[in-house]
Amino acid sequence: MNAQKSPVSRNGTRPKIPLDVQLGDEARFIRSWLENPKIAGAIAPSGRFLARALAQCVSPVAPGPIIELGPGTGPVTQALLARGVPASKLILVEYEQSFCKLLARKFPGVKIVRGDAYRLADTLKGILTETPSAVVSSLPLLTAPESDRLMLLRQAMELMGENGRFVQFTYGVKSPVPTDLGDSQHIRIQALAPIWLNIPPARIYIYRRANGPTFFKEPPDVLDELLRKSRRAAREIRDEFFEARARIVASNSGRRR
Ligand SMILES: C[S@@+](CC[C@H](N)C(=O)[O-])C[C@H]1O[C@@H](n2cnc3c(N)ncnc32)[C@H](O)[C@@H]1O
Repeated sequence: MNAQKSPVSRNGTRPKIPLDVQLGDEARFIRSWLENPKIAGAIAPSGRFLARALAQCVSPVAPGPIIELGPGTGPVTQALLARGVPASKLILVEYEQSFCKLLARKFPGVKIVRGDAYRLADTLKGILTETPSAVVSSLPLLTAPESDRLMLLRQAMELMGENGRFVQFTYGVKSPVPTDLGDSQHIRIQALAPIWLNIPPARIYIYRRANGPTFFKEPPDVLDELLRKSRRAAREIRDEFFEARARIVASNSGRRR
């Protein structure tokens, strides 16, 4: 699907823009979430910090197209373009028709494919003319069965070849894709620091083929990190409390003398 202007009617006037189109991206997203929470996967579009961080994970000058999965209302697409990825190199795969229409209006020159990202090879059949350099996904993977997530990663890796990277964010606390592909395609996984400024906080994972038998190392669990930090904060507060109490006791006993 390519970008289209709103059609002009026979008498030359533009038809009234449907209410749907006038709604803001947030409202559109909420509606999509209400209609199908498993597909939408989130109640609001990604914030700009997360979108920017995702865009930083790809190289705008790497040869070959960049595929974005689940662009929704387009915050990540916007960030990819702002990063310098040419519109002609972007291919968006979105399931929801209303989002596809919106994306076509917002991003002229970007190729939009309406289809199922979990059947990536079929969905992109006849569309790819070059090997993609990256797949950037905002799909709500945790709402899909583990076998579908694995199948997606495997297809993406096959489409991209040796040097490709699959970039995914998650609100979960560990890798949303099981990385044991059960064959020779060892995957190296890199977890970036959590983006606390997103609501809810999110974490980006990058999956790449590992050269040789080295397998991925799961990063320290976010919950462990949180636990460590909150224990340290509790210790500091307790120390401050005892120090303050000691100061009060000392000053009171000074006054009594
Ligand atoms: C969590 S939203 C992310 C939207 C946007 N990228 C953002 O960051 O705000 C997930 C998006 O994936 C789309 N989606 C869900 N399942 C899909 C599928 N099987 N194929 C293609 N798109 C899908 C939804 O319609 C929605 O736009």
